[in-house]
Amino acid sequence: MAWQGGTVVITGASSGIGWALAKELAARGARVGILARRPELLEKLVEEIRTAGGIAEAETSDVTDRAALAVAIGKLESRLGPTDVLIANAGVSAPSGGDPVNSDVVETMMRVNYLGVIYAFEAVLPGMLRRGAGHVVAVSSLAAYKGLPGSAGYCASKAAVNVFCEALRIELQPRGVAVTAICPGFIRTPMTAAQTNPMPFLMDADAAAKRIADALLRRPGVYNFPWLMYRLMKITRWLPDRVIRRKVLPPPTKSGTV
Ligand SMILES: NC(=O)c1ccc[n+]([C@@H]2O[C@H](COP(=O)([O-])OP(=O)(O)OC[C@H]3O[C@@H](n4cnc5c(N)ncnc54)[C@H](OP(=O)(O)O)[C@@H]3O)[C@@H](O)[C@H]2O)c1
Repeated sequence: MAWQGGTVVITGASSGIGWALAKELAARGARVGILARRPELLEKLVEEIRTAGGIAEAETSDVTDRAALAVAIGKLESRLGPTDVLIANAGVSAPSGGDPVNSDVVETMMRVNYLGVIYAFEAVLPGMLRRGAGHVVAVSSLAAYKGLPGSAGYCASKAAVNVFCEALRIELQPRGVAVTAICPGFIRTPMTAAQTNPMPFLMDADAAAKRIADALLRRPGVYNFPWLMYRLMKITRWLPDRVIRRKVLPPPTKSGTV
């Protein structure tokens, strides 16, 4: 599907990757529906997109509130038309590990990063399956591929997203609905702004959005980027624990409301 004229709904669009993606897809002709909790930022983005000649509508919603999210997506669809592509991008990160195990932090990451994806998919899949067409996308992370010390909860939440998407992809492909897990490496956004440790192959959000917009046209099952960071993560999978313990990769900094 070309982006021109298609309806795309993006969660977590008030900042970072979601913001850049909304602008990129609107510039490519998509009718963009944006969701997040901060209305003032959503309004600003709608204004920017409309000023540039694009089409955008916004609804405020918390992705962990299943019923409210379904209502918000329904409102966007009533103004923009049925969703062709849903991009479940909202996410938060915070350090978590074993000493102490902070269940509250882990629970929040699972609720936003994992359940938030499922609730968003749930809101659009019945319509897509009725129409026999559509594409649901989760913004996961290369962190899904390895349990990294200090990032236990974040890595687990993204691994859960990837496995859920894999199962749905196999199930829904014959029914005309594509499922994609996007796995970025380090992207320059508010999520990584406070990060002081090295971030190999750090990429700007605008560049990431262009890559994602191009890749989604191919409807891949998984899209890992940048390629060199993906290779590094693959190598990390096979490194001895003691090497990883010496901080091969830094833990995430706290972002969002975790
Ligand atoms: N930056 C990276 O290096 C990187 C790498 C790999 C993967 N990712 C993933 O990419 C996605 C976007 O991250 P980002 O880097 O763009 O982070 P960001 O700039 O902090 O943006 C996160 C977005 O998620 C929204 N959000 C958070 N909790 C929410 C909730 N409960 N309900 C609704 N929206 C919520 C935020 O909006 P409100 O606060 O307004 O609700 C914001 O729009 C995340 O899933 C993240 O895990 C990021």
